[in-house]
Order: sequence, then structure tokens, then C-alpha cells
Amino acid sequence: MEFKIALLPGDGIGPEIVGEAVKVLNRIGEKFGHRFLYTRALVGACAIDATGDPYPDETHAVCLDSDAVLFGAIGDPRYDNDPSASVRPEQGLLRMRKSLGLFANLRPVSLFETLIDRSPLKPEIVRGTDFICVRELTSGIYFGRPQGRSEDGNRAYDTCAYTREEVERVVRMAFELARERRRRLTVVDKANVLETSRLWREVAQGMAPSYSDITLEFMFVDNAAMQIVRQPTHFDVIVTENLFGDVLTDEASVISGSLGMLPSASLGSEVALFEPIHGSYPQATGKNIANPLATILSAAMMLDHLGLTVEGTAVRNAVDRTLKEGVVTEDLCLPGQRAFSTSEVGDNVCGGL
Ligand code: IPM
Ligand code: MN
Repeated sequence: MEFKIALLPGDGIGPEIVGEAVKVLNRIGEKFGHRFLYTRALVGACAIDATGDPYPDETHAVCLDSDAVLFGAIGDPRYDNDPSASVRPEQGLLRMRKSLGLFANLRPVSLFETLIDRSPLKPEIVRGTDFICVRELTSGIYFGRPQGRSEDGNRAYDTCAYTREEVERVVRMAFELARERRRRLTVVDKANVLETSRLWREVAQGMAPSYSDITLEFMFVDNAAMQIVRQPTHFDVIVTENLFGDVLTDEASVISGSLGMLPSASLGSEVALFEPIHGSYPQATGKNIANPLATILSAAMMLDHLGLTVEGTAVRNAVDRTLKEGVVTEDLCLPGQRAFSTSEVGDNVCGGL
């Protein structure tokens, strides 16, 4: 079969890690008789440099014209310490998510058994971890208005707002996912303080009767932050608002041994987008040292989404083999072990296919 894939490598290590995922996709294409037709487009700081806009219209058109989007990372230190910058790479990412209607970001957190001693947590705590965080992605405090400063600059404000419909569609997706898994859904909120969280609870409670086969629980976000590292095996599906999901999934990545291991899928009304959860790691740019596995695993999720589940599983198995062989980048190295490069890891995954 033939698939149109939009490639948005972005900034920092983005081009390197997307390059490795493309190698893997091409190998899958050869082996299983598919053709992936790529169109590259700009997003983030590189798009600002080239066009002045972090998410140019042309990039949006390329995404809409594709069967799926593979995204690397965005961000550039040139903007991080400049609070007055009027255009920022991150705005591109947010606008892309919003305009592609990507309201749900699925972030699976699982453990490759080979990496169990790479996690800073005890093996008996992390063994068996297998949950998925459904992060709401196009609303909440990331998008709420008003946002700004008082005239004298001494007061700043952001707004967290959710509509019933925005909560319902993402909670529904989480319920459905739980049905395909171990049938436990944890809604993470701060309903003891926030009105938006009380709406989340109300909506989830209202839907519960249609999902009576699912065990539904509510957990305050501060407690969830503790439980994720105290007893990660407790969780099956977590659903939560945008900012809580952002924070909790970086935290959860320590279970898998490295932030460089966690893939994600963003789903919604238009085309689906696949991206690692980590950022652009500017210090590593061009050094061929970044871990490409989160992006390669994101490509595997993309294959699943395109209906190519045998192929997606083949990629995950090849990653597992690479890890077993100890072909890992420096973030996963044990003391005294040689670190492999980004491209060596990608080549090794391809070799296992
Ligand atoms: C992520 C990132 C982004 C986010 C940043 C780069 C805006 O941290 O995808 O998790 O906060 O959503
Ligand atoms: Mn994040």
C-alpha cells in the first residue's frame, strides 16, 4: 500500500531523530511491500527563521494532505531567555495541535524489561508498568484567554477553561481505550480547588453508566504525581487536562529509564500526528548522540494507526532486540559501557527487521 507521510523534523535534534525513524519506515516498506511518500515541512524555530511564522500555512496544508504526520521536536534556546519575544517556536506547536484538531495525546508508559536497571526507581516498583496517559491537548490553560500582563507589567495571568464538550470527547476516548485494556480509568484533576476540575468530574461521572464495565476512579493531581512513582502498576488508563498531562508524563518517563524512550500519538478530527514526548535537546544538536527510540516508537504507533499493526509490532520487537543487544545511546548507558550514536541505534533497529 501507499501512504503519504508529512515529515516535520522541527528544531534541535528533530532532524536527526526523524531521520532514523524514516530509515526504519523505509525498511518496513521494503520488507512488507509498502511505499511511504514523504513531504517535508517546516515548524518551530526553523520555520520562524525561514518565513517569520512558526507554523506556516504551507505546513498546515502539507499535514492536511497526508495520511499521518511524523513530528520531531521544536524549541530553541534563543527564545527561552527572552520573555519579550513576540514569536516563539512553541506557538507553532500549539497552533498546529489546535488547527489539526488534535485534542487527545496518547502517551503510553511501559517498561522494556531490559532497561529495568536503568530506571532510578527500584526494579520491584517499576516491573510490570503498563499504562497510557491520555492528555487533553487543545484546551485548558495552554489556550485559555485572557492571557497577559497588567499595564504596569507587575501582574500576569493565564486562564484555564474547558467546555463540557471538550472534556467529554477526550474522556470518551479514554473510556474506550480502557475497554481495550485492563478496564481501569483514572481521572486526574484538582477538583478540591479548581472549577474546571469539578466539570471534568461531573462529565466523567455522567458518562460512567454507559461504561459500567470500567472501574472509574478520581485522583487529585498531587496524589497522582506521588502514586506514579510509588506504585506505577496501579494505573491502566489515566485521562487528564493539558498541563497536568504534560507534567505527569515527563515524570512517568523515569519509569522507562529515559525521556528518550516515550512515544506519543495525537488524535482528533483531522489527520493524526506522532511525536516523541521529549523536546529538542539543543545541547545535542548535530552531535549524533540523541536517543532516536522515542521517535522510532512513535513511528510504530503511526503504523498501528494506519492499520499496519503487524508492521508496528515488528518495529517494537526490533527495538526490543536492539536494547537487548545493548546498542543504546548515552542516556541509557550503564557506567563503563560504550555509548552508541543516534544513527548506530537506528541502523541496528533496521538490521533487526
Ligand atoms: C510537550 C512539550 C510541549 C508542551 C512544549 C514544547 C510546548 O513539552 O509536547 O510535552 O508543553 O506541550
Ligand atoms: Mn512536555
